[in-house]
Amino acid sequence: MSPVKVTKICCIGAGYVGGPTCAVVALKCPHITVTIVDLNQSRIDAWNSPDFKLPIYEPGLEDVVRQTRGRNLFFSTDVDKGIEEADLIFVSVNTPTKKSGIGAGFAADLNYVELATRRIADVAKSSKIVVEKSTVPCRTADAMRTILDANSKPNCRFDILSNPEFLAEGTAINDLLKPDRVLIGSLQTPQGIDACNSLASIYANWVPKDRILTVGLWSSELSKLAANAMLAQRISSVNALSAICEATGANIDEVAHAIGFDSRIGPKFLKASVGFGGSCFQKDILNLVYLSESCHLPEVAAYWRQVVEMNDYQKRRFSTRVVDTLFKTITGKRIAVLGFAFKADTGDTRESAAITLIRDFQQEKALINIYDPQVPHEQIWADLAEASPDIPLAATQKQVTICASAIEACKNAEAVVIATEWKEFCDIDWESVYAHMKKPAFIFDGRIIVDADRLRKIGFKVTVIGRAEAL
Ligand code: UDX
Ligand code: ADP
Repeated sequence: MSPVKVTKICCIGAGYVGGPTCAVVALKCPHITVTIVDLNQSRIDAWNSPDFKLPIYEPGLEDVVRQTRGRNLFFSTDVDKGIEEADLIFVSVNTPTKKSGIGAGFAADLNYVELATRRIADVAKSSKIVVEKSTVPCRTADAMRTILDANSKPNCRFDILSNPEFLAEGTAINDLLKPDRVLIGSLQTPQGIDACNSLASIYANWVPKDRILTVGLWSSELSKLAANAMLAQRISSVNALSAICEATGANIDEVAHAIGFDSRIGPKFLKASVGFGGSCFQKDILNLVYLSESCHLPEVAAYWRQVVEMNDYQKRRFSTRVVDTLFKTITGKRIAVLGFAFKADTGDTRESAAITLIRDFQQEKALINIYDPQVPHEQIWADLAEASPDIPLAATQKQVTICASAIEACKNAEAVVIATEWKEFCDIDWESVYAHMKKPAFIFDGRIIVDADRLRKIGFKVTVIGRAEAL
């Protein structure tokens, strides 16, 4: 039997991974019909909205959806029909960290993957290639195969592949169009290799062949966790150095620049910050910690756990520095927090450092103004409620104001805290901001984006991550 030639793809899960990934597959493969299905009606309605008000903000995404929607890209809540018609199914559902039960706080909650897999087993009437795209613990593919094999009908074969997605939010479309690599894991059996070739031939429509890597299933699953763990470790390393810089008078940007010149280290991903966020880094490391412990490797678990602990320390250190600098109390003081998303160019707030900072400021009884160019207001309220379950929402809404612009947020504030590196914060009219703030006016740059010397000339007291206070 030769590899199946895929003409119909179904993607289960229309989120940050499934949506952009399959939109780009549709763009690059006009001969393939791609249907993205999701149980969430309002999410699908947004993907189908006539004015392209898509449910996620991602630069370049709207353009791709405009070119493909209705041509060979479709969004639907009819999960069963999508499964039934497809030759190949991407499983791109969410895999959050478990909140209760065994492995709570560390292990991935595989309930969504399992429900989607069972749905495939129930509905499929013909053979399918099932591709796990969501980041999952090692050996999830094995569990999926067991469920599918136990429930399949005669003449119905399922081949499972692992094809983790490496896109970063904010640059997803570019990452998908020009990936560093595409990774496909399969069983090393003739059928597994055929399925792998079927998927590889889809990517070959736009990805150079030497960037499509094929490996065993478990290596593929572990590589995704490993890549995210190593990236996060790099940020925690640079953030640990930023604390030394603040204590010694060195400048973390200069240090990062100098070490980045070493071709073995390289210049990317060395920006000190108020702490990494996003749906992946913390979750995947905790997953790796859980895996290490399950394998009876406590030293390995402790090693990776420290990456997350350093990140928590960095966030705590920053909010403490704000309080200390404001004469050790921020009670009743107005603080403008610029940025709420976990990084620039996304509206995603999962694990955003801003949430932790604002929670800390709330506990110190400050008044907080928030401005973010993309995050919906309901999302901000939901995140703050989750972060401080002991504070009633009405009380939070008295303490916190969501503003329509950076300038408005800074009005009458005693301090400005930059939590996300949105480009528009580099171009703020700081003279005007200064004129409308209480004095002394403080700026805390958690992303190293402002020109501290220029701001000091205006009159601001400026504190920057990884730099000692200016005397
Ligand atoms: C990450 C991985 O990069 C991606 O390959 C994987 O598929 C998903 O997880 P993402 O979380 O979307 O992507 O964004 P990323 O650009 O990696 O940033 C993660 C966090 O690290 C952000 O909070 C960002 O602000 C922070 N960061 C990143 C730094 O603090 N410093 C840096 O130098 C880079
Ligand atoms: P990610 O960042 O991994 O893409 P998201 O939470 O943005 O995660 O998206 C996952 C999507 O998967 C959600 O929109 C959710 O409604 C959808 N989903 C979860 N389980 C199922 C399922 N069994 N069938 C269809 N869609 C599902």
